[in-house]
Amino acid sequence: MSRRNIVAGNWKMNLDRAKATELAQAVAGRHAEAGSVELVLCPPSVYLAAVGSAVGLAANGTSPSGVAVGAQNMHDKASGAFTGEIAPPMLVDIGCRFVILGHSERRTLFGETDATVNTKTKAALAAGLTPIVCVGETLEEREGNRTQAVVTTQINGSLAGLSPSDLEKIVVAYEPVWAIGTGKVATPQQAQEVHALIRGLLASLASPAVAAKVRIQYGGSVKPDNAADLAAQPDIDGALVGGASLKADDFLGIAKAFA
Ligand code: PGA
Repeated sequence: MSRRNIVAGNWKMNLDRAKATELAQAVAGRHAEAGSVELVLCPPSVYLAAVGSAVGLAANGTSPSGVAVGAQNMHDKASGAFTGEIAPPMLVDIGCRFVILGHSERRTLFGETDATVNTKTKAALAAGLTPIVCVGETLEEREGNRTQAVVTTQINGSLAGLSPSDLEKIVVAYEPVWAIGTGKVATPQQAQEVHALIRGLLASLASPAVAAKVRIQYGGSVKPDNAADLAAQPDIDGALVGGASLKADDFLGIAKAFA
């Protein structure tokens, strides 16, 4: 198995242009600390271009430091009368290579469903973006022993109809909702159990060979001091980091744990 670990910073609706630029420059300047880990910065969309130039993004989305840029959401149509929305080709046009889809905040606060996420995932792939598809159970679902059922429904729904060659390009992020922004991280065993479940589901959707290629990130209160134990699990291939991605030291500390 030779999956390259991937650590992405989900900045959510935080920072301003100066701080976003400063953080991006700091991460790009110190990228070597992360070794071979793939680093992705996902700023608010108005700052995608500023972050892109801060990391020296070329038109094809590559940068001298290897740091990539991703969006936090997108529309599924390529253009049209969708006031306030951003199209996948527009993200590609400004050098984005990734897009986070179906984050729990999108699902709970903005009504996104597995069907929405499925449509967007296909649109992202069609545009040449790598979707980071997020799934995860709520506390109530975990306490009701429904984690497996919930994650199974989310994976099968969000990834329905993808060809094996598309499936192997995606990144999945397992983010238990109760761990997001709460300081309550899943134990490495809890996370590994769901990651193994997800890999099994991917094998059923495509094949074990395809499933073995898909990178599955853990997300939810990842910090430099808990990242190493998560990184030691066989099916955890990186992290989707919220709060701790807003500080270069913390973000790179997490990335280092996956190096
Ligand atoms: P957190 O957020 O690291 O602040 O818990 C993770 C996420 O929402 O992706």
